[in-house]
Amino acid sequence: MLKLKTFAKAIVMLGCALAATSGATAQSAPISQEEAHRRALVLLKQMTLDEKIGQMTQSSGVQMPMLGSDRPDDLITQGKVGSVLWLIDVKEINRLQHLAVEKSRLHIPILFGFDVIHGYRTVFPVPLAMASSWDPKVEEEAQRLAGQDARAAGIQWTFTPMVDIARDARWGRIVEGAGEDPYLGSAMARAQVKGFQGEALGPDSVVACVKHFAGYGAADGGRDYDSSYVPEELMENVYLRPFHAAEEAGAGSFMSAYMDLNDVPATGNRWLLTDVLRKDWGFKGFVVSDAFAVASLQVHGFARDPEDAAYKAASAGLNMDMASQTYTKNLAKVVKAGKISEADIDKLVLPVLEVKYELGLFDHPYVDESQVDAVLNRPEGLALERKVAGRSMVLLKNDNHLLPLKRTAKKVAVIGPLADSTRDIEGGWTVEGLFGGATKNHPVTVLAALKARLGADAQVTFVAGPEPQRLYPSLFDMIQGKKPAAPPTDAEAAEWIAKTKAATADADLVVAVMGEGATMSSESASRSSFDLPGIQQQMLETAVASGKPVVLVLENGRPLDIRWASEHVGAILEAWYPGTEGGNAVADVLFGDVNPGGKLPVSWPRVAGQEPLYYNHNLTHEPEDRPQFTSRYWDISSKPLYPFGYGLSYTTFKFDQLKLSKTSVKAGDATEVSVDVTNTGSTAGDAVAQVYIHQRAGSASRPVRELKGFARVTLKPGETKTLKFPLGKAELEFWSPQTKAWGVEPGTFDVWAGEDSTAALHAELAVE
Ligand code: BGC
Repeated sequence: MLKLKTFAKAIVMLGCALAATSGATAQSAPISQEEAHRRALVLLKQMTLDEKIGQMTQSSGVQMPMLGSDRPDDLITQGKVGSVLWLIDVKEINRLQHLAVEKSRLHIPILFGFDVIHGYRTVFPVPLAMASSWDPKVEEEAQRLAGQDARAAGIQWTFTPMVDIARDARWGRIVEGAGEDPYLGSAMARAQVKGFQGEALGPDSVVACVKHFAGYGAADGGRDYDSSYVPEELMENVYLRPFHAAEEAGAGSFMSAYMDLNDVPATGNRWLLTDVLRKDWGFKGFVVSDAFAVASLQVHGFARDPEDAAYKAASAGLNMDMASQTYTKNLAKVVKAGKISEADIDKLVLPVLEVKYELGLFDHPYVDESQVDAVLNRPEGLALERKVAGRSMVLLKNDNHLLPLKRTAKKVAVIGPLADSTRDIEGGWTVEGLFGGATKNHPVTVLAALKARLGADAQVTFVAGPEPQRLYPSLFDMIQGKKPAAPPTDAEAAEWIAKTKAATADADLVVAVMGEGATMSSESASRSSFDLPGIQQQMLETAVASGKPVVLVLENGRPLDIRWASEHVGAILEAWYPGTEGGNAVADVLFGDVNPGGKLPVSWPRVAGQEPLYYNHNLTHEPEDRPQFTSRYWDISSKPLYPFGYGLSYTTFKFDQLKLSKTSVKAGDATEVSVDVTNTGSTAGDAVAQVYIHQRAGSASRPVRELKGFARVTLKPGETKTLKFPLGKAELEFWSPQTKAWGVEPGTFDVWAGEDSTAALHAELAVE
């Protein structure tokens, strides 16, 4: 008997191996949505209520105390698990899949989900960085590779993209999204969905999960998980826009957010999950809760007990319960009590089955273990990573052309805790990093890259200073009950400062690599201050006091308080967390092999006290530049240190000839904006042309400026390109709180084009 089973297993494995080596698509072309729907209906007819609820259940792949003693093996064979998350061990993935496919009554494969946020083994820059590229195409390429890697390693579903608008950088999850702007955020959302899913779901793509639906970034006080209060007009005009864009791009799944939205938790919010998502937008995929969020409905004081939580989530339109086991333990009771009909359960299960068919999971349930390393170690992964990282960096300051560096520097002092930190350079949410395992692609730090670049005859002195993690323990350390390491003592600090002084006094050039540890942003990582943690500021001041040229390279997940540096340091390069090849990419930019062209996807505050800070605010009747009774702080300007859309280059650009193909249009019709961009410097470089509008009067006040078009272009020295942008219904309409509808209103619109959100080049459009 045993032999027979082993033989059968070998045949299955052989089949899979052949499928993979012959190109997975050869024996099963992607099936159409119609065919997936047909097959899912046939399957659904054979399912018991418990099996249906099983498909609505996602189980944790790691044992956690809150999950009780249920063994996943038993649940899977009983058909009580539709999906598993937090599992990356391919052998275990295959073992569980064999149980589902061979031992459960209906042989329905498990959908394995994971947070492939910015790469799998090859880690790309964090999403905020990729948004800084203002190059959706490059983010699409990155997520395509990440998705293919994940799929080869047994993950068919990624909990990405995070498209939450973040207007408040205290909120640590700003690093996971595209920043503050709905237009840029929508472009990046679309690109990511396309990258992960390809033209259609199939055996080499992963299904995207758009999160966290919705309003999560508006958390009170920037505190992660806290309540959001967002009026409907702001939901429609700002927070929901990237979600809608992702939905229109064909995203297969959504994730409901954790928090209360206007007093109704997002996970039990019928307006969000049914009225907006399904009725208004026509979404046909499925919605999973955030982790344990169905159980949390009770904690929020919204559901009476777990049964009520299951009822409220399912009746709001939530298809799948992530990890809390609330559906599996309670939903059948809700149906039996007649509160939800089995027909309604069918509607919730169907899209889950359809996606499994579309992904080709029924034909390819297993991972070909022999192929995983070959796919994950593809050299093109690292090459692409380096390219994306280079395109994501933002040059914030460059006095007297300090950058690009001259290759003649012989004595270089590299200072700062992040200069040689492999743990930080890839940022948060790295697949293997999450589970404490060493990542198999060894990241290249800035120190390593600089040493390699400067060669053996250069003298590189390194002064690390205490690690920022000594002030901020990681979330995952905390989960495991590890105590934070003791912060540096005064004596230790003094010793580091003395070392900094000695090293910088003796150098031709100082490169300071500073910022926040990667765990200081992302989930559950809000900050009330944007200071450089630890003694980094003192180290930086010591370096500048040496009188040597100082370049500051920042690694961080949110804007930081760099007021002092912006006045005293020669050059500042924002590298965010640039990923596996991050050090090489930083060196490419520092030495001028790559001319930086990234732009800020956030308004850069002076201090945390300015937050929420965003460029697309409404007009006040008393702006700051008036003499008195103005909208101001006593102690600081209300303006950002660097505006949204800002970033320098090693060359300069001129914008002129702003024209509208028609200066007057009927509401609903389009005009075309054209603008000339010229490279006025002596090096080739990338400009990002940005178009902003403002509606002067209407049924509601409109933001001072709103981004409505952008394009990143490469220009040779002296070259001019004429760029054209449509300005029609999609760009001019807004959702009015008075009419409760979308529409273009007649009136005058200001139009600006230029290098950032303060662009001066202006034209006027009349809408009749
Ligand atoms: C996060 C989600 C994530 C999920 C699964 C949650 O804690 O909020 O963004 O996708 O865990 O890992």
